[in-house]
Amino acid sequence: MLQIGDEVVYFSAVFLLVVLATRSATAASLLTAVLYVFMVMFRFPPVPADQAGRVLRPRAPSGGVPVVAHRGGSHDAPENTLAAIREASRNGATGVELDLSFTADGVPVLMHDETVDRTTNGSGPVNKLQIVQLRRLDAAAHHRLKVKFSGEKVPTLQEAVEECIRHQLTIFFDVKGQPDKAASVLHEIYKKFPALYNSSVVSSLEPKVIYKMRQTDPNVVTALTHRPWRLSRFSDGTSRTLSTSGQLWTGVLDVLLDWAHHHILWKLCGVSAILVQKDFISLDYVQYWAERGVEVVGWTVNTAVEKDYYQNQLKIGYITDSLLEDCDPQY
Ligand SMILES: *[C@@H]1O[C@H](CO)[C@@H](O)[C@H](O)[C@H]1NC(C)=O
Ligand SMILES: *[C@@H]1O[C@H](CO)[C@@H](O)[C@H](O)[C@H]1NC(C)=O
Repeated sequence: MLQIGDEVVYFSAVFLLVVLATRSATAASLLTAVLYVFMVMFRFPPVPADQAGRVLRPRAPSGGVPVVAHRGGSHDAPENTLAAIREASRNGATGVELDLSFTADGVPVLMHDETVDRTTNGSGPVNKLQIVQLRRLDAAAHHRLKVKFSGEKVPTLQEAVEECIRHQLTIFFDVKGQPDKAASVLHEIYKKFPALYNSSVVSSLEPKVIYKMRQTDPNVVTALTHRPWRLSRFSDGTSRTLSTSGQLWTGVLDVLLDWAHHHILWKLCGVSAILVQKDFISLDYVQYWAERGVEVVGWTVNTAVEKDYYQNQLKIGYITDSLLEDCDPQY
C-alpha cells in the first residue's frame, strides 16, 4: 500500500531538522534526497496481502480471532516441545510461536534461553552442546506437569515443522539473533516444506534479522516484534540502569527506536505484521497499522478478561501461554 501522506510528513521532518541544524537548504535537500533514494532502493515490498492473510488470519475453528500458543503453550506443556505443539492443537490454538536456536554442531533446534538450565535437566549454553548430548536431556524436567510429560525431548526445527504441518498450525518462528545463519536455515526449511509460505511467519525483535530474511527469501511472511521501552526497562517494567543519566539516555534511545519501528523499519523490511506487548495496544493503534496494511498481534495475553477484549473489541490475534486457564506471563 502506498502512503504518500506518511512519506511527505517524514521527509519534510528530516528536511526541516537538517535545515535547522545546518542552516543550509542545499544540504537539507541533498540529505533528504539521499535518504529517500536509500529507502526506495533498499526496502522490500511486503508479500501479497492474500498470502499474508492466509498466515495471519487463518480460519479459527470457532470463528474467533487467531490464537497462538507462546512457545507452544508453556503453561499447558513443556515449552518448545512436540508435546506442546500437540497440546496446543488439541486445545484449539490456530498456531504456535517457537524459538529457533542452534547446537554446537549447527543443528537447528527449539530452545528459548541461551542455556538449557531453566527447561531441561542439563546445564550450559545450547551452542556448546552437540545434538546427541542435547537429545539425552529431559525437556520436561522443570515443568509443573513434568510427570505427565516426562521423557519429552528437545525437538529439531524439522521435527517441529512436521508436527505443526500435521496439525495444520500456523508457525511464528521467533528468531533472536544470528541473522545470516537463521535466514539460510529457514530458507532451506521453506524450500523443503513450501506449505510454510502459506502457514508461517518469521518474527524478531531485531530488524536486521527480518531484513536478512527478506533478502534471502522475499516470499517469506515476516513480522517485527516490538516492546516499547525495551532498552530502558526489563520485561517486568523495572529500570535496567539505576543512574539517572543512564535512564535518560536509554529512554531517549527508546523513543527513537519506537519512532523508527513505526515509521521506517517496518517499511524497509516490508513486514506483514507487528507483534506488540499487549499493554500498548488500543483500537487506535490497531487502526494505525490497518491503514498501512499491517496486522497487529498482541503478546502475552493470559487472562480470560484480556482474551475477551481481543476477541470482541480489538478483533485481532494474540499470543498466549495457556489455552486453558489464566496464568502468569512467561517473559
Ligand atoms: C536427564 O534425564 C534423562 C531422562 O530421564 C536422563 O536419561 C539423563 O541422564 C538426564 N541427564 C542429566 C544430565 O541428568
Ligand atoms: C498458497 O495458497 C494458495 C491459495 O490456496 C495457492 O494457490 C498456493 O499454491 C499456495 N502456495 C504454496 C507454496 O503452497
